[in-house]
Amino acid sequence: MPKLTAAIEREASSLRDALEEHSRRYYVLDDPTVSDAEYDEMFRRLVEIEETYPQLRSPDSPTQRVGAPPAEQFASVAHARPMLSLDNVTSAEQFLEFDERVRKQAGASALVEYMAEPKLDGVAVEIVYEGGVMAVASTRGDGVHGENITANVKTIRSVPLRLDQSERKWPVPSRLDVRGEVIYARDAFESLNRQRAEAGESLFANPRNAAAGSLRQLDSRITAARPLDVYFHGVGIVDGSELGSFVELFAALASWGLKINPLNQFCPDAAAVIAYFEKLGVERDELPFEVDGVVAKVNSFAVQRQVGEVSRSPRWAVAFKFKAQQGRTRIRDIVPSVGRTGVITPVAELEPVAVGGVTISNASLHNMDEVERKDVRIGDMALIERAGDVIPYVVKIIPEERTGKERRFRMPSTCPVCGAPVIREEGAAAYRCIGLQCPAQLRESVRHFASKHALDIDGLGEKLVAQLVDRDLVKDVADLFSLTLEQVIDLDRMAEKSATNLLNAIEAAKGASLPRLINGLGVPQVGEHVAGLLAEEFGSLDALAEADEERLLEIREIGPQIAREVVAFFSAETNREVLERLRAAGLDPRLESKKRSSGPLLGKTLVLTGALSVPRDRAGRAIADAGGKVTSSVSKKTDFVVAGSDAGSKLEKAQRLGVEVLDEAGLCRLLGVDEL
Ligand code: IVH
Repeated sequence: MPKLTAAIEREASSLRDALEEHSRRYYVLDDPTVSDAEYDEMFRRLVEIEETYPQLRSPDSPTQRVGAPPAEQFASVAHARPMLSLDNVTSAEQFLEFDERVRKQAGASALVEYMAEPKLDGVAVEIVYEGGVMAVASTRGDGVHGENITANVKTIRSVPLRLDQSERKWPVPSRLDVRGEVIYARDAFESLNRQRAEAGESLFANPRNAAAGSLRQLDSRITAARPLDVYFHGVGIVDGSELGSFVELFAALASWGLKINPLNQFCPDAAAVIAYFEKLGVERDELPFEVDGVVAKVNSFAVQRQVGEVSRSPRWAVAFKFKAQQGRTRIRDIVPSVGRTGVITPVAELEPVAVGGVTISNASLHNMDEVERKDVRIGDMALIERAGDVIPYVVKIIPEERTGKERRFRMPSTCPVCGAPVIREEGAAAYRCIGLQCPAQLRESVRHFASKHALDIDGLGEKLVAQLVDRDLVKDVADLFSLTLEQVIDLDRMAEKSATNLLNAIEAAKGASLPRLINGLGVPQVGEHVAGLLAEEFGSLDALAEADEERLLEIREIGPQIAREVVAFFSAETNREVLERLRAAGLDPRLESKKRSSGPLLGKTLVLTGALSVPRDRAGRAIADAGGKVTSSVSKKTDFVVAGSDAGSKLEKAQRLGVEVLDEAGLCRLLGVDEL
C-alpha cells in the first residue's frame, strides 16, 4: 500500500466536507452550487483514496451512502425515550374539545399556541447523532425497541451523515435523538410501480408500503436505489438544549441541515389550526407526498410539560385526520386490462361507491399474485382505498360477507383485445400480451400521450381514443396531428363544434414543453420525474435521441436500466420515424428554463413562507418562469422572502438577517402580474 501522507488525509477530509455540503445544498436546500459532473468527480476521487487507504474510510463518509452488502437480520435498538403515538380527532368539534382540555391543563395564564404540520403517511424513524455524526438509525418498532436500519437510512440523500455547525446561534448538541418520517414521493412511487409492473414484479399498494419495503431491505444497496426522502418532526434526547418551542426547535434542526417540512405552520390558536386543516385538505391531492391529516402540537415546551402525557401518547399533541378515503362495495366482475406495454392487469369492476367525494367504479388488483394473495373473487364485498390521484385499489375482501357464490378470476390465455397469445415470463408476476399490433396497447399509448401530465389534450378521453384507434385513424401518436375535421365529425357523439374544439386542443398541444413531450412518448421506465431530468439535461429531443448509455449514466438518478431503455427507444427505427413526423407537425420544444437568460427575477433566490392565496407550486412556477428560484430555507443569500399570512420562523429569520420581505402583492408587482 502506498504511504499515507498528511496531505492525503487532508484531501480526504476536505473532500468529505465538500461532498456533504454539496449534498445538503442539493437534497435539503434544493440550491446546488456545483454541477453533477463536478460532484461526481469529487466523489470518484474520494472513493479512489478510500480504496487505497481503507483506514481513512469513516462511517460518516459520503461514500458510505451507496449501501452495504446484505445483513443477516436487523438488530434491536432501544429508544432512549419512547417514541409515542398520537391520539386522533376527526372533526373540528373534536379538535376544539382537545384544545379545551389542553388549555384547562395548562392553566389560565398559559399561552396555548400550536405548530401544525402535515401528517405524513410514511415510516417513523429515529436517528441518533453523537458529536454531530450519525451513530444509529432505527424504526419506531413498538415505541420502546425498534430495528437497527442505520445502513439503509444512510442511503437517503436528504439525511445528513454529519450535522452542519456553521450557524453559531444553535451549537450542535453532543447527543441528538431526532425523529422524522421517511416518505416515498408520489410520482417516484408511481414510476417505481410502473417499473415493477414492466419487470413483472409485484406492486406496492401505496407509497407508505413502498417506503417501508425499501427501508426494511436487508440489502441496503436496494434501498440506495430508491428515492426515499425524509422530514423531521420531533426529538427525543437533545443534550444541553435550551430550545423552548417547536418554532425554535425546527429553526435549530434546519440550521443543522435536517430537513423540515416547508408546509409546517405556526398557529396562534385552535381556529388557525382548523383553517390550516381545511386548507391542507384542499391542497392534499396536489401535494408531492401523501398526507393523511394534520398533526397539531402545543408550541411551547414549558406548556407541554404542564399538560403532560398519558401512557402511550402526549396530551399536548393530536393527529387531526382527514376523512378516511376508504369505502366498501361489491366486486361485480374482474376483467383483464391491457396496458401500454402489453402487461395485463386484473381490474375489479365495482358497484359504484363514493370514496372521499369521488365515485369509484374500478379498482386495480395489480397482478395475479395479488389476486391470489388477497383471495379476491368475483362477487366479493371489498374494502377500497383511494389516495390522491393514485388509482384506487382493493385493500382486502370481507370474508364474512361471502355467500359461496363467488367465482375465481382466471387470466385468459389469449389477449381479450387482439387475440394474440398471453405469456407469463419466467419468475415474473405479470402476464403480457405479445401482439405487436395490439390495439389495446396503442390505445393506452395514445391515452398516455394525451393525458394531463403529458400533452394535456383537452377532450381527448378514453372513448374518443378508442374510436380513433379502432377506425384506424390513429396508428401512432403522430397521426393525431393530421386528423381532419371531416374525420373527427364522423365519430360517434361528435358535432361540428366539439370536433373543432378537439382539433384546436390538438393544435394547442403542439406548444407542449419538452418534459411533457418526453413523458408523453412513453419510453419504458421514464415517467414524469425522469422526463424532467432528461429535458433539463439535453434541452431538445434531438440531443436526447443522440445520447448513448454512457452519457445518460452521467446524470445523477439515472441508472443502467433507464439508460438502456432510453437508448433502445430512440434507436428503434419506428420510433425515430414517429419523432420525425412529430417534428414535421411542429412539435420541437426546447428547454431553456434551467438557465433562463431573462425575466424580472433572473438570478434571484426567493423563499416562500406562510399561507399564500394559491398553492405553493403555482407561485413557484410563476417565479421560475420569471427566471427566479425558490429555496426552502432563509440565508444571507436569499434575495426575498415572500410572507403569506401566519408566516412563522422564516419571516423572523428574514428580519433578523435583513432579507427583504414581500407580501403576495409585492411579489405580483415584481412579476408584473395582477395575481399569481
Ligand atoms: S409528531 C408524540 N409529526 O404519526 C408523537 N408525527 O401517530 C409525535 N407522523 O409515529 C409524532 N407525520 O410517525 C409527528 N408531522 C408529524 C408526523 C408524524 C407523521 C407519524 C409519526 C408517528 C405517528 C403518530
